Amino acid sequence: MTESSNEHGHQASPCVMVIFGASGDLTKRKLIPALCNLAKDKLLSPQFAVIGFSYNSITTEAFRAQLTKDIKEFAPEPIDSRLWDWFLERTYYVQGDFQDSAAYGRLQAQIAAVEKTHSTQGNRFFYLAVSPKFFAPVVKQLGQAGLTQEEDGKWARVIVEKPFGRDLASAKQLNRDLKQILDEQQIYRIDHYLGKETVQNLMVFRFANSIAEPLWNRNFIDSVQITAAETVGVEQRGGYYETSGALRDMVPNHLFQLLSLTAMEPPISFDADAVRDKQAEILHAVQVPKPEDVMSMAVRGQYGQGMAGAERLPAYRGEPMVSAASNTETYAALRLEIDNWRWAGVPFYLRTGKRLPRRTTEIAIQFRRSPFVLFRNTKIADLQTNRLVIHIQPDEGISLRFGAKVPGPVMQLGLVNMEFDYARDFGRSHSTGYERLMYDCMMGDATLFQRADMVEAGWRVIQPVLDAWSAAPAKCFPNYAAGSWGPAESDELLGRDGRAWRTIGEDHPASEPSEVPAVLGRATAGAH
Ligand code: BG6
Repeated sequence: MTESSNEHGHQASPCVMVIFGASGDLTKRKLIPALCNLAKDKLLSPQFAVIGFSYNSITTEAFRAQLTKDIKEFAPEPIDSRLWDWFLERTYYVQGDFQDSAAYGRLQAQIAAVEKTHSTQGNRFFYLAVSPKFFAPVVKQLGQAGLTQEEDGKWARVIVEKPFGRDLASAKQLNRDLKQILDEQQIYRIDHYLGKETVQNLMVFRFANSIAEPLWNRNFIDSVQITAAETVGVEQRGGYYETSGALRDMVPNHLFQLLSLTAMEPPISFDADAVRDKQAEILHAVQVPKPEDVMSMAVRGQYGQGMAGAERLPAYRGEPMVSAASNTETYAALRLEIDNWRWAGVPFYLRTGKRLPRRTTEIAIQFRRSPFVLFRNTKIADLQTNRLVIHIQPDEGISLRFGAKVPGPVMQLGLVNMEFDYARDFGRSHSTGYERLMYDCMMGDATLFQRADMVEAGWRVIQPVLDAWSAAPAKCFPNYAAGSWGPAESDELLGRDGRAWRTIGEDHPASEPSEVPAVLGRATAGAH
């Protein structure tokens, strides 16, 4: 681990990373496995160390033992024992209450000791994997302990997890609180969707290929559908979810990242601010719904009991830590419009929900119909249009649907797909999705992190929906069965525009048989 670069790129700068919330789920499931992957790829500096900070009263030895147990369960692939020993040697623990200044004195002493032992050169990287109520207090304490100062070329950066606020006012307040202590360039607001390969590939697909950009506008695109569907319910997170709901949990953050990368103008460079300026611009161009329009452009749902195959699924109201009369939505769909030259008149439909039939995140670009006059007398069940689907998970790739002649003496049109499949073409990745984000933070590259204005622009769009929904609690909950595709109102939302949600899975090779009309046949053309 001594070279300063390798085949993957450059090693990150020396630093000590402090994880607040070191005994939590995120640390064991994602952060530690991601650090190990970075170490394996020789992207961590040999002058790196990590300090876990949390409320649990344990020693460094006990923390190391716990991590050793957890990594076996959560690493995406087995970890080499020498690499793990290397990692453990530079892992420490500090016990403390997030609001107790004495604990920050202990942390300061531990950082000073680690800086000496591992020559971390005074660079500090704080990861706030804690409940949002501690974001501002932890940063304040860090500031008071003098740990956030950047002097003599040393850096101090803070990754703040989601949720960043619970509405526009609280997001603004949190930005103000953080900026009392930190400069904007020290704050890394993380959204784990930006760690996903296919999300990053969106920019490459759009801007590194000359075929996409000329078509990427209202002249050729009819509409866009962004779906983040989950099969799981709220699991053990009922307590949090009751205060959040599907809209807050997924839309202003994850879905708006997908929307902004899909719709933004080309940046003039890949500099953090060049890219984020364009993302912020598009979020500002999304029409803020008028209060009187909310009920017709937004749909909410909550799952009742249902089935997944032979398995009986409980209703949301029967989940642990959920009120039996809960009005929290577990499904949200929106119809948004973007007011600019590229997108005016092109609806963007967004939907997300728990306990849907299939786990899928994707962006479907629906192209306009071509003039079918030539085929007026041709045997076709339906005049189908071109569609490009960017599959974000679980099967990452891109597929393009187009019409082709079905072989035979009679002119018949069929639909075929051209496929790019990440796993097939590049091999399966063992990434947790956090590697790139933590590495970028250590490198001082904030491109994949949200800036204050982006976060606020996202909340600004959904604030009227939050207000309207809380003023008029849903009377129809539960309104979809667990294991179904959400409430009927969601289909009506598109139906009113003469459109329909696409049938998920109909054009991916890894998927189940499609609903393409039998008369059209079905073929899949490989990308090679
Ligand atoms: C989290 C939400 O931010 O994202 C969860 O709080 C959701 O409710 C999760 O399940 C989805 O992430 P992914 O990567 O599984 O799509």
